Amino acid sequence: MTINSGATASRRAFLQVGAGVMLSSALPLEPARAAAAGYRLRTMPAHASLAGPQHPQTAVWAYDGKVPGPLLRARQGEPMRIVVENRLDEATTVHWHGIRLPFAMDGVPGLTQAPIAPGESFVYEFTPPDAGTFWYHPHADSLRQLGRGLAGALIVEERRAVEVDRDLLWVLADWRLRPDAQVAGGFGNRMEAAMAGRVGNTVTLNGAVSDAEPVRAGERVRLRLVNASLARIMALRFEKHRPVVVAVDGQPCDPHEPEDGRVLLGPAMRIDLMLDMQGVPGRRYRVVDDFYDRLAYRLTDLSYADRPPLHPHPFDVAPLRLPPNPLPEPDLVAAEHVELKLQGGMMGGGGHRGSHRAAWAINGHSMTGDGHAQMPPLRTLQLGRSYVLTLRNESAWWHPMHLHGHSFKLLRRNGVTVPHRQWADTVLIAPRETVDVAFVADNPGDWMVHCHVTDHQVSGMMTVLRVA
Ligand code: C2O
Ligand code: CU
Repeated sequence: MTINSGATASRRAFLQVGAGVMLSSALPLEPARAAAAGYRLRTMPAHASLAGPQHPQTAVWAYDGKVPGPLLRARQGEPMRIVVENRLDEATTVHWHGIRLPFAMDGVPGLTQAPIAPGESFVYEFTPPDAGTFWYHPHADSLRQLGRGLAGALIVEERRAVEVDRDLLWVLADWRLRPDAQVAGGFGNRMEAAMAGRVGNTVTLNGAVSDAEPVRAGERVRLRLVNASLARIMALRFEKHRPVVVAVDGQPCDPHEPEDGRVLLGPAMRIDLMLDMQGVPGRRYRVVDDFYDRLAYRLTDLSYADRPPLHPHPFDVAPLRLPPNPLPEPDLVAAEHVELKLQGGMMGGGGHRGSHRAAWAINGHSMTGDGHAQMPPLRTLQLGRSYVLTLRNESAWWHPMHLHGHSFKLLRRNGVTVPHRQWADTVLIAPRETVDVAFVADNPGDWMVHCHVTDHQVSGMMTVLRVA
């Protein structure tokens, strides 16, 4: 999905368009922008060609009938308004994952709003303070609604365009398809819930299995990766390329190459890469996901056009660093500490069982489901105060832990300082690992903290922090 528009296309891209080189067909397709970004999204049953033309279409649930849902774009600091109309026959909500927005707009059923009943609508209005790559998904019946296709990307543009040749978005999603290409049932399998969650068998890139993505030698691409999977963790390797991470969960970081050249992406996480296309014209290079032992697969190929490099010499001019977002810097000296122990699962510590469906717990308590009224907060945080949150994984499984309403600074992993000044809203925690993050509790509300392996969330790895 090419997401260049007049607003984000770089000066360099403009020059090329002017010269009639690349993007000349992409640009005019962008509709003119209204003053405030206004959208209407309909949740509905639909069909999508996920597995390719040689397979039947898959029955899905989708925003506006599209998988992934329409790309929503906003500008940093400018209001946006999204009318969500529910055409499913069950209730839904939309959570704007990673956007620091008012509590009433957070999309958690029971907690922040009444669920949107079939045939009804809800108007979401907020002003994104941060530029970056975000996404939206339901927060009701999450396993089935997300697992059947309800997810989309939300891009908040920087005030000043970032200089790249192309701005690309890969929404990655994992599906469990039967041989007839239909979504397998069995959501909420208890055995799975207590292990890695519902990991599927088909990974799509922007809504379809991808054989190749076209690139051109010499171009610099900003590649926005979104992992919209229920449970699949990804570790992407770009054969013979050196991606540079410039943002994590939408928040700019010090540009750096990922450890071992693997871009690690837990469910709900986003990574923005700068990728200089230094391959040979006419050749193909594999993009491989090798997160799970012995289950590596080829996600796609970067397929080079058989044309001379776009730029005569490599990229030494444009800075890689993205402009900073207005994040409140936590005061680590005055910060109060909150510890969350992540417990349960097969072979995990504890064995806490809060209710019948519970397989997981936080600090001995299992909050199950997707959100509901009267969820008692685990702690009340003081508005404006800094907190260090220690996430202690006492289990034998990975957990991408997400905090609503805030972004946090990654401080330490097992006591070792996290480099490159990274902020996030979802942090992937390895088995037995302890991660410290810090944030200013500057957004009043009852904010969820949960694992984004959806099976883990709905079976107890969820809690609420009140900011008041
Ligand atoms: Cu994507 Cu409660 O989160
Ligand atoms: Cu988890």
